[in-house]
Amino acid sequence: MALRDILIHPDPRLKTVTEPVSDPAELRALAEDMLETMYHAPGIGLAAPQVGVLKRMLVMDCIKDEDADPKPMVLINPEIKWSSEEKNVYEEGCLSIPEIYNDIERPAEVEVTWTSLDGQDQSARFDGLWATCVQHEMDHLDGKLFIDYLKPLKRQMITRKMQKLKREKARA
Ligand code: NI
Repeated sequence: MALRDILIHPDPRLKTVTEPVSDPAELRALAEDMLETMYHAPGIGLAAPQVGVLKRMLVMDCIKDEDADPKPMVLINPEIKWSSEEKNVYEEGCLSIPEIYNDIERPAEVEVTWTSLDGQDQSARFDGLWATCVQHEMDHLDGKLFIDYLKPLKRQMITRKMQKLKREKARA
């Protein structure tokens, strides 16, 4: 296993609609790296394009209680089959947009289907933080970031801040 570099916004790879995965088993090593990278960050979700792989895969684990068992999940080719009318607001962040947090409204519950690394069809209904997280990560697979839900002026401010951060990092 190895830590992968997380791309920081703005980056064209974060704006790309990713390709469906045809052979899930080929992504096992990547999935392990992504989980390690996510836990190390630390974060609760990470999508493949955030590590520069333009494939429809994400990992997540929204267990926040440190005494509870971890629940790493790998979702390949995920699709939302149903969303609740009821909405939920969460203060979201993103490993590709460090230290920026904003309230984002999304459906409170979603039903998602996906393929596992073993190639099995899976489905689950997510609520609470899991619902927010899976929708946020699935947006990444379509080149969408949580700041795209904000007003243009706010989004531009954040983008400029990130450009500055990247320049500083490049110089360091
Ligand atoms: Ni994100």
